[in-house]
Amino acid sequence: MKRTNGAMRTQVGIVGAGPAGLLLSHLLALRGIDSVVVENRSRAYCEARQRAGVLEDGSVRLLRESGLSGRLDREGLEHGGIYLQFDGERHHLDFRALTGGRTVTVYAQTEIVKDLIAQRLADGGVVHFDVSDTAVDRLTSDRPVLRYTDAGGSKHEITCDVIAGCDGFHGVCRPSIPADLSTVREREYPYAWLGILADVPPSTDELIYAHHRNGFALHSLRSLTVSRLYLQVDPDEAVDNWPDQRIWDELARRFELPGSGWELRQGPVLDRGITPMRSFVSAPMRYGRLFLAGDAAHIVPPTGAKGLNLAMADVDVLAPTLEALLKGDERLADSYSAACLGRVWRATHFSWWMTTMLHQTPGADAMEAELQLSQLRYVISSRAAATSLAENYTGYPARLAAAG
Ligand code: FAD
Ligand code: DHB
Repeated sequence: MKRTNGAMRTQVGIVGAGPAGLLLSHLLALRGIDSVVVENRSRAYCEARQRAGVLEDGSVRLLRESGLSGRLDREGLEHGGIYLQFDGERHHLDFRALTGGRTVTVYAQTEIVKDLIAQRLADGGVVHFDVSDTAVDRLTSDRPVLRYTDAGGSKHEITCDVIAGCDGFHGVCRPSIPADLSTVREREYPYAWLGILADVPPSTDELIYAHHRNGFALHSLRSLTVSRLYLQVDPDEAVDNWPDQRIWDELARRFELPGSGWELRQGPVLDRGITPMRSFVSAPMRYGRLFLAGDAAHIVPPTGAKGLNLAMADVDVLAPTLEALLKGDERLADSYSAACLGRVWRATHFSWWMTTMLHQTPGADAMEAELQLSQLRYVISSRAAATSLAENYTGYPARLAAAG
């Protein structure tokens, strides 16, 4: 960041220090482009917020190629498949065999955020935490401005060449696009996930996605000693209604495999929270000199672990787009939105499909239950159907067909 006559100046003003904003700042720095990140939460909060945990192979490659994979390569856990459980049976889907060797890696979003913050600060990057009153303005000029109040209460205005809205679903950037210039597609689901982090080794070698008459359950992990587990609950459920033992009993019920000897290991609950489920896409992802990336533009329900991967894929497209724009070439900027939305809609469909196949819809009839079970049986018995799930789960090629 430079000061000219007391005014602050940067090339790219970035709103939000989540995975999208921090990774964009790093990818821009690799191209010699100056940025400032403003974040309304504290560094400690950003580094502790429990969210996603599964990286597509393309996300791992991006982190590796941009010099960010030191700890990921040491601590990330490569997974070559998942289990689908339904009708009291557990079936393995072997992604390596189905996709010609592709895998995913379990490495928590909290760890990616810690790695990114440490790298930005080591490289002299500017990240302002604990800001308030963030606002963006003059977005259709070639000098958009970013305003905020710092942690000490002083007001600032940064003149930028471009602003990147990486401020998540509840941020200020998307609402600053005139409503008549955006198209929003949205679906809310009549259920939510209760997620826990537990200090206990995982009870499984691969993630388990379980369809159960009481509702969906997912067994994931964060390391060889820490488990991450989710239960489908009502969307208006209060987390206080779920004491530890009720959670463990319900998880054990939904993962039960009668006669197999398999048991769910229990341990101290380190963190818990309820996540609503929504599909949301706002297009286009650009307005003048404002570019949206990640959850600021689109949300998927978590089933299938796409949200974090989409955020990383957006900024992988955005960094070279901004590099060209700052050199006066607008062509990539003009195609930015369509380039991202092809992948966004594919992941939106996949997440919706996984979600509706695996969850119990309140009030659903026996017809829906039979259709779900038929689809699940097809996925585990047809190589073509299994390959489709595996291809979508492990990720998409860098150049997926652009949206129209
Ligand atoms: P975010 O991570 O939301 O980052 C946006 C940042 O902007 C935040 O740090 C926020 O504090 C900041 N911000 C917001 N407003 C302002 C402002 N006005 N000024 C300055 N800063 C601002 N995905 C999965 O794949 N699997 C999961 O299990 C999963 N679980 C999730 C659980 C929850 C509770 C949520 C909310 C999301 C979950 N996701 C999951 C989705 C995944 O975590 C997101 O897709 C991912 O975080 C997107 O990254 P992002 O950088 O675009 O947005
Ligand atoms: C996790 C979250 C998901 O939504 C998913 O499909 C798989 C794993 C996780 O948090 O580990």
